[in-house]
Amino acid sequence: MQKIIAELEDKRAQARLGGGQRRIDAQHGKGKLTARERLDVLLDAGSFEEYDMFVTHRATDFGMAETIIPGDGVVTGWGTIEGRLVYVFSQDFTVFGGSLSETHAKKICKIMDLAMQNGAPVIGLNDSGGARIQEGVASLGGYADVFWRNAQASGAVPQISVIMGPCAGGAVYSPAMTDFIYMVKDTSYMFVTGPDVVKTVTNESVTQEELGGASTHTRISSVADAAFDNDIETLLEVRRLFGFLPLAYGQKPPRVATEDPIDRGDMSLDMIIPDSANKPYDMREVIEKVADEGDFLELQKEHAGNILVGFIRLDGETAGVVANQPLVLAGCLDINASKKAARFIRFCDSFDIPILTFVDVPGFLPGVAQEYGGIIKHGAKLLFAYSEASVPLVTVITRKAYGGAYDVMASKHIKADVNYAWPSAEIAVMGAKGATEILYRSELSDKDKIAKRTAEYEARFANPFVAAERGFIDDVIMPHGTRRRVIRALSTLRHKRSEGPKKKHGNIPL
Ligand code: HXC
Repeated sequence: MQKIIAELEDKRAQARLGGGQRRIDAQHGKGKLTARERLDVLLDAGSFEEYDMFVTHRATDFGMAETIIPGDGVVTGWGTIEGRLVYVFSQDFTVFGGSLSETHAKKICKIMDLAMQNGAPVIGLNDSGGARIQEGVASLGGYADVFWRNAQASGAVPQISVIMGPCAGGAVYSPAMTDFIYMVKDTSYMFVTGPDVVKTVTNESVTQEELGGASTHTRISSVADAAFDNDIETLLEVRRLFGFLPLAYGQKPPRVATEDPIDRGDMSLDMIIPDSANKPYDMREVIEKVADEGDFLELQKEHAGNILVGFIRLDGETAGVVANQPLVLAGCLDINASKKAARFIRFCDSFDIPILTFVDVPGFLPGVAQEYGGIIKHGAKLLFAYSEASVPLVTVITRKAYGGAYDVMASKHIKADVNYAWPSAEIAVMGAKGATEILYRSELSDKDKIAKRTAEYEARFANPFVAAERGFIDDVIMPHGTRRRVIRALSTLRHKRSEGPKKKHGNIPL
């Protein structure tokens, strides 16, 4: 027996060595942790149970029969984060560059199937050169098996991808189908084809970092939701994100006990709206002052800054927040902001996370670039996502809610449940100046007359009461009492029931 136990230990030790000490040193030399070290940071200490440690590939071409490494380049299994179940895979770049073979894919599929069956999220730590070149179509098939499961799991269990090295070719499409992508700055890249292929096909010279680094994907493409300085920081942030999420559809996110009183008033909110309607203020400050302990996990921070999305807790319970940000483009809705918020709303709706919306929006961004880029279709995504959402929706209009953007931003008309406005709210078809210039075009040369007309329009519409008179706004609330009012509103919506017409699924304008 002793001998058999020793053999098992030897086999385990061999598997843990992956592609060998030289390659592990090279991984460390790049400032990266190994696949197993990463799982140690991500999961609760001692909670990881590994599956399929002894699985090997079956390829024989290109000398592969002689290079067999137990585990085949991916560490899979389950563990816990703050005691809650999660299935994980972590690609081992020291084994054939973390490339995906037929058996490597089978290991990932196994834990995805278990996650869906047992109702727990999947977190994938990606560090891979893409399809295992020596295996040809077998590895392409393996990718497709993973992709299919990504679609099946979407909306059933949360899926989080962490990009922790190069991810090329097929290696980017599985993450792209998951709910959240986090990247590590300077050591991770995502591209469909690398710089060499780009040079050959389009004659563009570009570095890996420029083409698919964290800064590109968090700022420009919006493929990634956030990026952090190193492996450890990134994995700790994934733990934080995980804490806001339910384990699966039909389950609630964990309630996190808070010392922050429900009725904590914040008098500074009464002064946050500037005297001039054209002066901005930081909506992030409003969110932080309303949230439990000021904790706001913001996603897509570097992209479409004119809208803010992320998670907070209110009286210990997770809420998604969507908010116009007057500091950027005056909070206008444009193509990027619409897509960003629509996707976030759909995530929240999939997993029954209530949505709190703060509105300060002068309208959709006008312009040729926006029209040519399809603002009609992309703006409709946001309108569709809000209209389709059946989770509790609470809306607070802090200042401007003009035109179509008023309708879109979780208005009463598209079935938000509770709509509040601050006394500073202005709910109108457009701003007073624009309105009078259209209504009184013939008087434009007379500055005094126009000023008088503008003042009249402001007096009539630059307030929340016209909307409140019609019941479009449930109450005009004091800014300092916002936290208390939204928590109380959400408490009435805990058992909200909402059933639409019978159908397979809607057809969001993609
Ligand atoms: C097999 C691979 C591999 C791959 C890397 N390796 N990629 N083995 N299949 N796809 C191996 C290397 O041979 C090397 O082995 C080790 O991994 C480390 O690779 P290096 O090149 O030395 O590392 P580095 O310089 O850091 O470059 C990493 C890299 C590069 C950027 C990922 O290796 C690369 O460009 N690889 C190919 C990427 C690619 O084109 N993949 C196929 C995409 S097509 P040794 O033994 O020396 O340690 C695809 C189709 C799927 O994925 C489509 C589905 C929709």
